[in-house]
Amino acid sequence: MSVDAFRLDGRVGIVTGGGGGLGEGISLALAAAGASVCVADIELELAEACAARVRSAGGTATAVAVDVTDRTTVEALARTVERELGGIDVLVNNAAIYPRRPWTEVPEEEWDAVLDTNLKGYFLCARACYPSMVERGRGRIVNLASVTFFGNLPQLLPYVSSKGGVVGFTRALAREVGSDGVTVNAISPGAFPTAAEKIHPDPEGYNRWILDQQSLKRRGTPEDVGNLAVFLASDASSFITGQLVEIDGGWMMH
Ligand SMILES: NC(=O)c1ccc[n+]([C@@H]2O[C@H](COP(=O)([O-])OP(=O)(O)OC[C@H]3O[C@@H](n4cnc5c(N)ncnc54)[C@H](O)[C@@H]3O)[C@@H](O)[C@H]2O)c1
Repeated sequence: MSVDAFRLDGRVGIVTGGGGGLGEGISLALAAAGASVCVADIELELAEACAARVRSAGGTATAVAVDVTDRTTVEALARTVERELGGIDVLVNNAAIYPRRPWTEVPEEEWDAVLDTNLKGYFLCARACYPSMVERGRGRIVNLASVTFFGNLPQLLPYVSSKGGVVGFTRALAREVGSDGVTVNAISPGAFPTAAEKIHPDPEGYNRWILDQQSLKRRGTPEDVGNLAVFLASDASSFITGQLVEIDGGWMMH
């Protein structure tokens, strides 16, 4: 295995929800490894700001507005990237929402919104990008799951349900597309200090609790997740598919 197998030179990647915390870390890492990155987010300004940071770090990035729950904008995203960047090698399904409340108070619309964004959105994006991957004879789909699937945080019923769905989606899709040279894997982050952390009412207590849970006594960073995404997007991981990879400082151990 050469170091080059970890490089992404000449590859094109889309990162959904790329305007946010982990998505930005993933976008920066893919670009640092040599990929051209399309940062796609429902908030175009956030996507543009992230793409600008990638470019100022020496990488190549564009920004596109997308609502992953809307098939029309998802297909437009895929066609734009194919036209402007020449095709799609890597899709990182990262966009998600995470409303928190007691399950008896979850409005039906909120349940639908979470499942639409965090699960159906991953399906729509994968299906829109897949033809380009087939044409290129290879592809990498990386889905963001969550440590919460293993049951350690209350009041997140729709979110945890969606993330369980992401694990099933990853395994089932890996079976469907393996013969096309496309791998599908999931990243299961532990707790990272992004906007997502604002759902916890006591930040200092939460920080202490997280460090107590982890084997490693530092908080994870978006760069940590970005490095794992690079590995799963690269040739170095070409015999790995259908897997859920924990990145949580040694919190969960399976
Ligand atoms: N931060 C953590 O500790 C943590 C832990 C476990 C899993 N995760 C997962 O990692 C991923 C990134 O989380 P984050 O903490 O960076 O969240 P974040 O809220 O900082 O970023 C999410 C991004 O998704 C975008 N988005 C939301 N709905 C969208 C839609 N319909 N279409 C397109 N974009 C949309 C938002 O605008 C935002 O930029 C998510 O899948 C999340 O579930 C995060």
